Amino acid sequence: MMIQEKFDFEVECFHKTKDELIAFCRHFNQVFLYGTGEYGKQCFSFLTKHNIAIKGFIVTHKQESECFGLPIFAAEEIIPSLTPQTGIVLSLKKTFRDEIRSKFINTDTVKIFEMEDSFFAHCAWISKIGEFQKFIAEAFTKIKAGCLEKEIIAGRDLITDLAIKRELANNPTIFHLINLFISLTKHKATIKPILTGFEPPMKVELSQDPSLNQYLLEHVQIYWKGIGVKEPYWSVLTAEKFFIDNIQYTKKEFYNSGKGDVEKFLVTLERNNIRLANNRTCIDFGCGLGRLTIWLTRNFDKVYGCDISDSHLEIAKQNLGGSGIFNAEFFQLQELNDIERLPKVDVFFSLIVLQHNPPPIMLKMLEKLIGRLNTGGIGYFQIPTYRHKYQFILEDYLAATSNEEKRMEMHCIPQLELFRFFEMQKVTVLEVMEDTYTGDQTGRSNTFLIQKN
Ligand SMILES: C[S@@+](CC[C@H](N)C(=O)[O-])C[C@H]1O[C@@H](n2cnc3c(N)ncnc32)[C@H](O)[C@@H]1O
Repeated sequence: MMIQEKFDFEVECFHKTKDELIAFCRHFNQVFLYGTGEYGKQCFSFLTKHNIAIKGFIVTHKQESECFGLPIFAAEEIIPSLTPQTGIVLSLKKTFRDEIRSKFINTDTVKIFEMEDSFFAHCAWISKIGEFQKFIAEAFTKIKAGCLEKEIIAGRDLITDLAIKRELANNPTIFHLINLFISLTKHKATIKPILTGFEPPMKVELSQDPSLNQYLLEHVQIYWKGIGVKEPYWSVLTAEKFFIDNIQYTKKEFYNSGKGDVEKFLVTLERNNIRLANNRTCIDFGCGLGRLTIWLTRNFDKVYGCDISDSHLEIAKQNLGGSGIFNAEFFQLQELNDIERLPKVDVFFSLIVLQHNPPPIMLKMLEKLIGRLNTGGIGYFQIPTYRHKYQFILEDYLAATSNEEKRMEMHCIPQLELFRFFEMQKVTVLEVMEDTYTGDQTGRSNTFLIQKN
């Protein structure tokens, strides 16, 4: 099917489901939405726009009592008391729907309405259908005319031509295009500088004492080893859906989330004219559960995943081995010098890792990772470089952390210190990108692309 036909088909399906959903809701005296997550909220606002009132929300595990001012009921309590005049809309992902249908809902008593996950994806953009059609039409006309390198859409400075080209050249599904369109319109709506330029300096002490550095590393390690046993997936992406109790439904989503990060890295290389040599090798530093490693293995002959936490590494080995990936090897780091025992590689890659380490050891690890690069090798890594009210005073830090329960720490290094450090290490900084990895919208986090001279 051509893309235009696919698109028309999707739109037709959406409208058909929409009409059926509205008819279903109007048919019953009372309607509940099952689920208060992203889909539940989308469905609620969709029905509200169509003047359909619902009685409340139903959830499997009740944690809160209200959503949008309406009551939330626990499924076990409310479902047995519902009458045949009740309709339930299952507004949650398919993986959850199957279980709920069989466990809680007797379809002789209540009637349920289900729709494909794609319905919810479409809800988010369908009101902008005219804009979307224009976007697609313009992009394809430019592709045909062979002038994709030029500006094809407004806002191209926010997603580069290369990203668009990659997206469109790979036989995109309608969902790829919709996501691209949504991310462009979202970016356009929220664009603002992260720092104002009026921020005061951040005081950060950088010790060079090896025994102190070892102490700092062990301090960080205690937290990660522990959380890797209790809540390994959540420790990597801190969303409730990745709690151990939910992971049987969300594991795929967890691993899929790393794809975009690795794609962004590849586009960054392209933008900087970097071609990887043959027999390419990569260190995924702080690989955790292998969420990024799994995608790196598709682009490198060999990936060395290393992490401070054995509990994370065990899961990474199991999950990647279980997916038939055999070009990844895993190492546990016990001390900073262990980095020197890693093989020399073409690339080291590290996202959302260094930030959890006090600044002195962040720089020490970077130094040792640069030491593992072949000449011309590339480093791609993320570090927060400004946070309001952040400081690192060694003495205060040691006093504060000696007795307190270990927690997930977040640290920063000012760009000034990093640029000094890069100069000393004789690396060329190819690009410094702003990123959103810390989730802190008032501070700054950067992804660096460096090359060893
Ligand atoms: C938030 S997770 C990120 C994992 C992976 N990079 C990802 O994005 O999926 C942080 C990981 O870094 C590891 N880590 C933290 N400090 C480290 C260090 N100094 N050396 C090696 N690994 C470290 C933790 O054990 C944890 O697995």
